[in-house]
Order: sequence, then structure tokens, then C-alpha cells
Amino acid sequence: MRIIAASNYEEMSARAAEIFVAQVTLKPDSVLGLATGSTPVGTYQRMAEAYRAGKVSFAACRTVNLDEYVGLGPGDSQSYHEFMWENLFSHIDVKPEHTNLPDGKNLDAVAECARYDALIAALGSIDLQILGIGHNGHIAFNEPSDHFVAGTHMVELDAQTIEANQRFFERREDVPTTAYTMGMAPILQARQVLLLVSGEAKAEILRRSLTGPITPEVPASILQLHPNLVVIADDAARKWLT
Ligand code: PGA
Repeated sequence: MRIIAASNYEEMSARAAEIFVAQVTLKPDSVLGLATGSTPVGTYQRMAEAYRAGKVSFAACRTVNLDEYVGLGPGDSQSYHEFMWENLFSHIDVKPEHTNLPDGKNLDAVAECARYDALIAALGSIDLQILGIGHNGHIAFNEPSDHFVAGTHMVELDAQTIEANQRFFERREDVPTTAYTMGMAPILQARQVLLLVSGEAKAEILRRSLTGPITPEVPASILQLHPNLVVIADDAARKWLT
């Protein structure tokens, strides 16, 4: 594991974007594992800036996202599909047919999870996977549990997750309570994992994830086993690591 110390969110985002640009420059047809949430937004902005400045092209990249709310999809403003278009895809030259998310509109969970696992397998290993971390230690929507799940699955979201995600919705009752999420296997098999962590509210869960026992109660703790984990954390998030 390598921990890159950033002074703040802006620097964290700049460093993360540099790693993405380097990845795509060295391997233009990279498979990029992408995430939603507030944490990667600054990284995506800088990736788009690099594209606009002619420093990088994503035209040959394929992307695979971690998760999607069950019931939401293209056209739903709160869907992760729309999030990705708004925050990244519409600002770069990635081909729409090269972007992939779970289909939250497919209510046949067994079929959708099987479809997504087959799609991930067909893409081959993820070259670079970006991750945020939930206040409860989730990565993607792998919530705290008594076991790790390898493949794509449907999850009941934690009360804490629903609480945290409420800020994107008008009312709490509008927040979906279930989601499809990639499991741990493709994340652990990614060639490089980039965990971004910003803010004091994540400091304690970051400490537990990186220095505590590896347990499904703290899903991100499994990242300790990854051979090429890069953590970019700002000063506030590293409060308990220094
Ligand atoms: P955040 O979410 O980036 O909005 O804090 C992270 C996560 O839940 O994985």
C-alpha cells in the first residue's frame, strides 16, 4: 500500500487525475473502474480538463461503474447513470457504448447481476479502479456484513448510507433502499486501486480500514490485501494515521 498525502480535496483530486491521465496515456484502451459520490467529482473535473487541453483521449477506454440504485437508470436525475454523464462522460470523448453501469431498471436481480458479472469478465481485469469510502466503511455498495461477497449482488442499503445519500434527493423517502453493486472480486483483481479519502468525517473509518483487522464488518479493510493499493488522503482524513 502506498499512501499519498494531499493537503486538501483539491490536491487529492489533482493527484488522482494525474494517475488516470498517466494510465490512459500508457494504455489508451484501459479498462477504467469508476465510482460515484462527492469524492471523485474533482478528479473527474480534472480528467475533463486534461482532455480539453489535448493531453489525453479516452476514445479507446472502456469504463465499468461500481453500482446503481435499483429502480433508477437513464433519465432519472438521481441515478448513477446520470451522475456519470453529468460529471464525466459528457465532458470527455469516451464512447457511450464503451461505458457500463448496472441496469437499475432491470428488476430481475438474478438476471441483472449475472449480466453484469459476465460483462466484467468479458472486459478483462480493470486496469485502474477508483474508490471512495462510506462512513461505515463500504466500498461500492458492499455494506458491512458478516461475509464478503465476490460477485455483483443486490444489497439493502444501510440506514447510514441512506442518511448520507439523502443530500442528493428532495426527501428521505425518495432515496432508494436497494442497489446493485459490484462485489469484491473485480475490485481485488483490478491492477491498481486508487482509494480517495477527504475530510475529517472519514478519518476514523480510514484508520480502521487500513490499520484494523480485515473484516466484512469494515468492507474497505479487504483492500489491505490488494497488492497495488494507492490511497490518496487529505490532511483531515489522515488525522488518525499520522
Ligand atoms: P462520498 O461517498 O464520496 O459521497 O462521500 C463515498 C461512498 O459512499 O463510497
